[in-house]
Amino acid sequence: SPPPRQALRGDLLDFTAAPVWGDTASTAVRYRPDHHLLVEGGRIVGARPAAEPLDPSWSVADHRGHLILPGFIDTHVHSPQLDVIASHGTALLDWLDTYTFPAERRYADPAEAEAGAARFLDALITHGTTSAVVFATVHKVSADKLFEAARARGMRLITGKVLMDRHAPDGLRDDVEQAERDCTDLIDRWHGVDRLAYAVTVRFAPTSTPEQLAMAGRLCTSRPGLYMQTHVAENVDEVKWVAQLFPEARSYLDVYARAGLMNARGVFAHGIWLDDTDRALLHDHQALIAHSPSSNLFLGSGLFGWRAAEAAGIPVAVASDVGGGTSLSIQRNLADAYKVQAMAGERLSAWTALHAATRGAALGLGLGDEIGSLEAGGVADVCVWDWAAGPVAQRRHEVAIALHEKVFAWMTLSDERNLAAAYVAGVPRHQRGAVSPC
Ligand code: GUN
Ligand code: ZN
Repeated sequence: SPPPRQALRGDLLDFTAAPVWGDTASTAVRYRPDHHLLVEGGRIVGARPAAEPLDPSWSVADHRGHLILPGFIDTHVHSPQLDVIASHGTALLDWLDTYTFPAERRYADPAEAEAGAARFLDALITHGTTSAVVFATVHKVSADKLFEAARARGMRLITGKVLMDRHAPDGLRDDVEQAERDCTDLIDRWHGVDRLAYAVTVRFAPTSTPEQLAMAGRLCTSRPGLYMQTHVAENVDEVKWVAQLFPEARSYLDVYARAGLMNARGVFAHGIWLDDTDRALLHDHQALIAHSPSSNLFLGSGLFGWRAAEAAGIPVAVASDVGGGTSLSIQRNLADAYKVQAMAGERLSAWTALHAATRGAALGLGLGDEIGSLEAGGVADVCVWDWAAGPVAQRRHEVAIALHEKVFAWMTLSDERNLAAAYVAGVPRHQRGAVSPC
């Protein structure tokens, strides 16, 4: 276990407010170069300039010359899909049938589910992601093993067993009654335990009957603090299919609204093909969009309208959506997000991007007091990054003058190879060069 009072020395960067779109000189950024971040009993208790002497009760982890950020929050990712990351040649619906469903079937086996959960959470941590909102599989045991493994690592994790009772192959379907029993049992055993929370997990409208969607809606109000996660309006063929399956609904999002699945703890992945009425609904409920740029590019799904969502007052976070996405690295996903916006003539600032991956995600999940910043009182989920890896990034870092220029180059050129250390609730869970993360 770590020393009770630990000071992490480095260049501290976090946010005290939401940056204005396009403002590269934002006052919402709090940059404190060469400071000690003070961590006591796993929580952040303050920060001091490194030049000020610390009393000897503090043990110092010297990360001088490194960038220290709040651990990243991946708001939408599929644990079993590490097995299908980088699969060639298909768009969403064929990709599900060809690659994803067959891989997810393996998670019926408890031993596979246990090994997969450990592999997945260790991979998150070694990419600098300390919290996540995760899809398991339809199998109850897959969620069980994720909760168990997250608890062992002290992580803030939100997950649930996937609901799907139609349009999925044998071995991957539940039914309304069994699914309700499984969810209730998982909620009873895990929701609110340590840093864990349950998410009612509707895969997407096509794979649930209206009866199952209604059951999911009832579950959401069965206990305070439950989350709901699903996919919405990702791909045009998917949107057409939903319109055929639910002719009474005004839109894809309206299918979820009618089932009682719209709430402030809703996390909706993608949201590319929405209209103004949908955006107003998301805003009214303060539901979170998990923008997944690398997945959207890789599967050819479309270009997310971040600016329109922001103008509508919808909380937007970022997500890897692995295995549709091609990297767990949040920087790589932010670099893709910049390019997606550039295609629409918009220029995403490093501030808006990094805020969405930290404080913005935390607030969207109702966890702003616990994660997403370096503010005193929060849990010490903290990552330490090399400012540059390799001569190209090093040179770019050296010639950059303004802070935004340095951080934007870092965001664009860095990835998990830049990660020097990751602390989860103050415990070092990853240190570069160390033999085993856990
Ligand atoms: N829609 C339904 N299931 C999935 C999935 O596993 N990944 C993505 N990207 N979209 C989905
Ligand atoms: Zn997804």
